[in-house]
Amino acid sequence: MSNQVFNFGAGPSMLPVPVMEQIQAEMRDYQGRGMSIIEMNHRSDEFQEIIASAKTLFREMMELPDNYRVLWSHGGGGMQFNSVAMNLLGLHPQNKALYCNTGFFSTWAIKEARRFGKVDVITSSEETGFDHIPSLDPTLVDGDAAYLHITTNNTMMGTRWNGFPSPLPMPLIGDATSEILSRPIDVTQFGLLYAGLQKNLGPPGLAAIIIREDLLGHASPHIARQLDYTVLAETDSMPSTPNVFGIYVNRLVLDWTKREGGPKAMEERNARKAERLYGVIDSSDFYQGHARPEDRSHQNYTFAVPNGELLAMFFAEAEAQGLHGMKSPPMREDVRASMYNAMPMQGAEVLAGFMEDFERRHG
Ligand SMILES: Cc1ncc(COP(=O)(O)O)c(C=O)c1O
Repeated sequence: MSNQVFNFGAGPSMLPVPVMEQIQAEMRDYQGRGMSIIEMNHRSDEFQEIIASAKTLFREMMELPDNYRVLWSHGGGGMQFNSVAMNLLGLHPQNKALYCNTGFFSTWAIKEARRFGKVDVITSSEETGFDHIPSLDPTLVDGDAAYLHITTNNTMMGTRWNGFPSPLPMPLIGDATSEILSRPIDVTQFGLLYAGLQKNLGPPGLAAIIIREDLLGHASPHIARQLDYTVLAETDSMPSTPNVFGIYVNRLVLDWTKREGGPKAMEERNARKAERLYGVIDSSDFYQGHARPEDRSHQNYTFAVPNGELLAMFFAEAEAQGLHGMKSPPMREDVRASMYNAMPMQGAEVLAGFMEDFERRHG
């Protein structure tokens, strides 16, 4: 394909080429059935095989103990801000939970949870523009809160937690939307991890949820059936017709991730991309990195150029050269470039080369 671009957008993001080729090859005739997978009933043997094998792939690659379940829910990552609150605030008699505010999506998660209960924000890096992961004062970790919520990788800010707050007296909940399977994560530190699919798992509009079984059964009686984790667990994520296409693509992406070596190999590959990109930023006075080096993400890169005029030129020239999707995060005049698992090293090279050239010409 001659007009293919590198997509540095925050999401939806690049899918692995072999995955797209397989979707294309199977679309008219899924495994000799004379029709596509999205025309088939979700109770068909074909879809049952897909969902079972997607679960197995999650289990293998994330090394899930037997007491964790894999679920899919309509609604993407943002819907989980509500679902987590509606499913788990009941663990506390006054519906209280703790949140760490490390950026745009944490702030949004806090806002949504406050619709359903009491939220204490026990740490925040807002004062410094969310440029780091703040420390946690253990005396503020109120032992009887329903849960503690963190955003493991902050898409807009380009930061990530390197060590997670664990062990805790309550379940740790992680929004891993922008980094799931980009590095090994010890799931046993979490009661629940969730991720919208559209970065490292597949298409938008769905979330994968990994939940410890003891957290089932605490949902608000007012919750919609499709969002209740217990119903999702009881119905094998089919409380009504599931998003067959999304789960099918998720399975293909999981297959690809495993063939490529799983989260450990992805971590090494992402570290090589990070070395190249942060190398350009660190050796330059022209580019100013937003995130503090110790907390930098290996998925989302945030940096400033000297002024607004150069920023507009940066975006325009990048798009013209097939470097698609870079944008300023909300409320900031920075560049945010995202490189998820499917971004090849070549993409990092092309972006780094473009940045060096842009600096030479405009610095
Ligand atoms: C960390 C994080 N959480 C949640 C979301 C929201 O996901 P969705 O757009 O699928 O609702 C995003 C989207 O980019 C994200 O990066």
